[in-house]
Amino acid sequence: MTAQPSRCRVCKAPAVIDLPRHNANFCAEHLVQLCSRQMAKAIEDWEMFTPDDRLLVAVSGGKDSLAVWDMLIEAGYRADGLYLGLGIGEYSDDSGGYVRRFAASRGLKLITIDLRDDYGYDVPTAAVATRRVPCSACGLSKRHLFDRAAIEGGYDAVVTGHNLDDEAAVLFGNTLRWEIDYLGRQLPVLPAANGFPRKCKPLVRLTEREMAAYCLIRGIDYVVEECPIAAGNRHLGYKEALNEIERRSPGAKAAFYLNFLNKMSPLLAEHTASARGDVGSCAGCGAPTTGDVCAFCRLVEKSSTHEAVPVEIVLDTRIRR
Ligand code: AMP
Ligand code: FES
Ligand code: ZN
Ligand code: ZN
Repeated sequence: MTAQPSRCRVCKAPAVIDLPRHNANFCAEHLVQLCSRQMAKAIEDWEMFTPDDRLLVAVSGGKDSLAVWDMLIEAGYRADGLYLGLGIGEYSDDSGGYVRRFAASRGLKLITIDLRDDYGYDVPTAAVATRRVPCSACGLSKRHLFDRAAIEGGYDAVVTGHNLDDEAAVLFGNTLRWEIDYLGRQLPVLPAANGFPRKCKPLVRLTEREMAAYCLIRGIDYVVEECPIAAGNRHLGYKEALNEIERRSPGAKAAFYLNFLNKMSPLLAEHTASARGDVGSCAGCGAPTTGDVCAFCRLVEKSSTHEAVPVEIVLDTRIRR
């Protein structure tokens, strides 16, 4: 018996991808349509932004953030890009190249910040200087600089490319440890508050595999390698565990995350509201903080005076977990 070629659920043309969680196959055109519709549904359901808003898309050079920028522009939104050079060796040089080429090919505005040139440090150096896990020094720098760029540029919201796989893995980790405070804040949109800009994740209904297919179809070149520092970390382990569950029970990953948002988040909202502390302004940079000087300014002070540490040292010493 010869296997039937799979057909697109919508138009019956030969399919390019099978999506077990939708129990369907799709051709290139209808996969792109599915992605755009899922993004539109997320934007609408969580009231992320409107076409009047000015958006700042944080683009890493990976598939998700380039895809979300592309989809937002296609959908008629006003979206500029922001790339942060983290100084993680060749990985950062390559990533920056993909972002710049994407922006140039479409005539889009791209803001670039380089940790080494603009703040006198890079992620490997910050990790050693502050004795933080590198991903934590990196995350702190990203959050602070995304927020600052959005506020200074007068943008209405910061957009990131976090997808369903990312969010489900973070949820899995937070649930394993019952991190109630983190769970309470794990939402696809965080409203502007206390000097922080609004933050949105329009890809939370889409998977990594769908975004990779989207980029392939749309001819978007992206950096395929993962960050070398993150390789083997806990977060990737959670992703693998969820993929195994998904393989046995298609749709389980989306149900885990989306049902959390619908059923559990509202129950946590009260807890989160009461846990909010008083927020003042950082004496160094004016950013919102609960102390006198914000964590970012403290990190810059220690890291920019430290001798530069090459990424290989951080990889070798394996202090990253
Ligand atoms: P990650 O923290 O690497 O999982 O990335 C999550 C999201 O943060 C990406 O989808 C991007 O939107 C954003 N992002 C990560 N790294 C950068 C970067 N170097 N520059 C700008 N945005 C970034
Ligand atoms: Fe931040 Fe790898 S991207 S440590
Ligand atoms: Zn089709
Ligand atoms: Zn500060």
